[in-house]
Amino acid sequence: MAKCTGLYGTPEKIAADVHVLYFVDDDAFFKKTADLLGSALKATVLDDRTKGDFTGAVDELLPLVAGDARYVLVGLGAKDALRAETLRRASGRAAREAARFVAQSLAVYFPSEEVVRRHMHLSFEECVHTVVEGTLLGLYKYDKFITKQPDAKKGLIKEVRFVAADEGFQGRLKSALETAVTVVDGVELARNLTNAPGNEVSAETLAKEATAIGKKLGLKVVVFGRKEIELHKMGGLLAVNQGSAREPRFIIMEYNEQKRRLPLYVIVGKGVTFDSGGLSIKPAAAMEEMKMDMAGAAAVLGAMQVVAKLKLPVRLVGLIPATDNMPGEGAMCPGDIIRMANGKTVEVLNTDAEGRLILADALVYAQRYKPTGVIDLATLTGACVVALASHATGMMGTSAALKDQLRAAGEKTFERVWELPLFDEYDAMLKSGVADLKNIAGRWGGAITAAAFLKAFVADMPWVHLDIAGTAMLEEATAYAPKGGSGVGVRLLTALFRDVAH
Ligand code: BES
Ligand code: MN
Ligand code: ZN
Repeated sequence: MAKCTGLYGTPEKIAADVHVLYFVDDDAFFKKTADLLGSALKATVLDDRTKGDFTGAVDELLPLVAGDARYVLVGLGAKDALRAETLRRASGRAAREAARFVAQSLAVYFPSEEVVRRHMHLSFEECVHTVVEGTLLGLYKYDKFITKQPDAKKGLIKEVRFVAADEGFQGRLKSALETAVTVVDGVELARNLTNAPGNEVSAETLAKEATAIGKKLGLKVVVFGRKEIELHKMGGLLAVNQGSAREPRFIIMEYNEQKRRLPLYVIVGKGVTFDSGGLSIKPAAAMEEMKMDMAGAAAVLGAMQVVAKLKLPVRLVGLIPATDNMPGEGAMCPGDIIRMANGKTVEVLNTDAEGRLILADALVYAQRYKPTGVIDLATLTGACVVALASHATGMMGTSAALKDQLRAAGEKTFERVWELPLFDEYDAMLKSGVADLKNIAGRWGGAITAAAFLKAFVADMPWVHLDIAGTAMLEEATAYAPKGGSGVGVRLLTALFRDVAH
């Protein structure tokens, strides 16, 4: 990530290779930013919006070169339509445009206080957070395996200066910037893990990552190997791992666990480091995408890191059942009946419905904490992608309060969630003739029947399941996320725990 600093001043005074300026599609507000640019250029600029070259409309971008200085002007649109997400998107697009220049440093000037407070309904801190998120996440790239960069001079922003006009915000800028950078760091961790191929990230790698985070931030981290997993009778995790050449892990991370007065939440992340489907093998086309089947685990690792670093006043436990799903020697077979951690038996009719098997054991383990809430995140079903594409995470669960809190966090972060029903009638679709339940239902309602399966293992915990199959990996870039792992869940969970923590 680029080095970030907070400063006060105007483009005239601040040194940077590229300056990013936000414009509103409104005469008075437009003129304010145009004047700032004008005094830096010592010229009257853009005083004639009606010619239409650049009006401040949403999605407008104008790169300018003037002598040694470079500018990116970005439109936010009409003042009545301004939202946090408008600013986040504009920041991402402007940062990427700036990276097309031969430049190493960027100065980003926050929109005026009036625009932010009156029209976006954001506090100064929220504005800083939004701009920093959009800018840094927009600049993110996964290029660690590219040994030769095509043009070494471009796209190498090493430093970003976030600039406020008003000295009165001294201190507030610094702390808001630190918070935002911490969140972005967590998202980048999740994106890196999600993008990493299966030969880079195994169950063992996820465990090492958790241990490293624990060391750095003082979390208690315990990793179960095969032996402990057997002792805990986690038959789902063991069955999925049967066809693999690599050992499974069950990862437990605890933050503030001893602080009995604080509410305790458990977050569970599906950690399938590669999902071949097992013996019910997937078709070759697009199978490579299944390296991302640990995006739920990545979100849990990212969120644990952020919550601990921000020292939020909650108790938080992260659980990650981790393995790949392979068809190797010893692989579980369709028709196998397995026994889960709570003693329930499952008829495995499709080995590709593996996520629910490992999550079920983790949900049983979560019960020992008697949590105020448990949230699982999983790239669980293609059916959820069919229903919602990449624009919303599927949400199902038993706690109306937790669902409401997640909806609010989703609106705030634009990691939106959308509820699908979880009526009791769906339970019957999982009835097996030979075991307590089977791991797949019929063809219809696949996202819901997967959640109904999980519900059989949550007992009385207030629980929400988030199906991130569509949102965790983007087929196309958005304004502040390139194609590939999105890091979804980190900002959502952070916003949730910042809300419940006071
Ligand atoms: N990891 C997949 C779900 C998935 C599909 C995630 C597409 C992201 C994109 C999961 O393990 C799976 O294979 N689910 C099956 C379930 C089916 C066998 C009931 C599916 O969705 O096809
Ligand atoms: Mn699968
Ligand atoms: Zn899977």
